[in-house]
Amino acid sequence: MQKRFFLRASVLAITAMGATYSIAQENVFKIGLILPMTGQQASTGRQIEAAAKLYMAQNGDTVAGKKIQLIVKDDTSIPDVTKRLAQELVVNDKVNVLAGFGITPSALATAPIATQSKTPQVVMAAATSSITQASPYIVRTSFTLPQAAVSMADWAPKNGIKTVVTLVSDYGPGLDAEKYFKERFQFNGGQVPESLRVPLRGPDFAPFLQKVRDLKPDALFVFVPSGAGAAVMKQFLERGMDKAGIKLIGTGDVTDDDQLNDMGDGALGVVTAHHYSTDHPSALNTKFVEAFGKANSGLRPNFMAVGGYDGMRVIYEALRASKGQGGGDALLAAMKGQIFESPRGPMFIDAQTRDVVQNIYMRKVERKNGQLYNVEFAVIKDVKDPGKAK
Ligand code: PHB
Repeated sequence: MQKRFFLRASVLAITAMGATYSIAQENVFKIGLILPMTGQQASTGRQIEAAAKLYMAQNGDTVAGKKIQLIVKDDTSIPDVTKRLAQELVVNDKVNVLAGFGITPSALATAPIATQSKTPQVVMAAATSSITQASPYIVRTSFTLPQAAVSMADWAPKNGIKTVVTLVSDYGPGLDAEKYFKERFQFNGGQVPESLRVPLRGPDFAPFLQKVRDLKPDALFVFVPSGAGAAVMKQFLERGMDKAGIKLIGTGDVTDDDQLNDMGDGALGVVTAHHYSTDHPSALNTKFVEAFGKANSGLRPNFMAVGGYDGMRVIYEALRASKGQGGGDALLAAMKGQIFESPRGPMFIDAQTRDVVQNIYMRKVERKNGQLYNVEFAVIKDVKDPGKAK
C-alpha cells in the first residue's frame, strides 16, 4: 500500500517536473551565437561576444515574457565546424535565432540550415555582398565591402591619387573589395596597374609589398580581415613604402580600432572608408565605448563589436514586436525594415534585401589624448550595398 502510494507520488512528481520543464523551455528564447573564439579570427569573436553581453546587461534578459539565453559556440573560423555547430544548435538546443559568423565562408556554410529550419540567421561580422542572397532567412548588421570600397574609390581620385595597386585577402570579401574599388576608381579616371591577392590563412605580405614598391603607385589599397591589419601596417612601414611616397588606403578593416593603438605613429594620416569608428562623435557612441571599456578591462569596441551590439538590438526588437509569439517567419518579418540609431550612426535593415543601409565615413588616423583613432572627416549618407544596386 505504502509502496504503491510512493510510486504514484513519484509519478506525479515526475509529471509535474516535466510540465515545469516544458513551461520553462517555452519561456526561454535561445540565441545560438557562433563565433571564432580561437584561431586567426579570435579577436572578432571576443569583440562580438563582449558586445552581445553588454547589450544584454544594458537591456535586461527578459523580452516579451521570454528569458533570453545566449549560447556561445567557438567555430575556430572553420566553415565545416560552423555548419555542424549550427545544425546542433537548431536540432538539439532548438535555438530561435542563429547569430554571429566571423567570416564569409562560415556564414555561407550555415545558410542552407537557416533556410531548411526557417531560423533567422543574423550575420554580425561577415561582409561579402552576396551573403544575404544565400538564404531568405539571413539579416545582416555588419557592412558590405562594396559599401566601403566604392566610397574610397570616389574619394581617392579627388585627392591626388591617380594610380593604385590593390592588395586583398583572396576570398569573398577581398574579391568584392578589389572588384568594387577597381571598377569605380577606373570609372573615375584612375588606373590600377596591378591587383594582388594574398591567402587568407597565414599570409606573408613581404613579397607582395616588395612588388608594390617596385610598381610605385600613388597608393596601395588594402583589404585584410579584422585582426590582420597590424601585420600589413608593420611590413608596409618596415619596407619604407611611406617614405617612398606610396600612400596606404583601404577599407577600415586595415586600421581596425582593436589594433590601431599598437600600430604606432607610422599609421598617422592613413585614410580609410568604413561604417564605424570608436571615435564616432555621438552621445550614444560615447556611452557605448565607455560601457564596453568598463566591462572589458579597457578594451575598445571595434566595428565587429558594433555589428554584434546592433545584431542583438535587431533580435530583441523582433521578439518584442512579435510579442514573443510565432516562429522564425514572424521574427524575420519583424527584423525587416528596422530603423534605429546605432553607435555607428543611423542604421536601417532594408526590408527587401535584408541588408544594412548606413553611412560610410571617410576617416584619417590621428592622435587624440595620446591615443590613435580613426577620426571621421566626411560622410557619405545612407549607403545601400552597391553589390545589389541594379
Ligand atoms: C568576412 O569574411 O566576410 C570578413 C571578415 C573580416 C572583415 C571583413 C569581412 O574585417
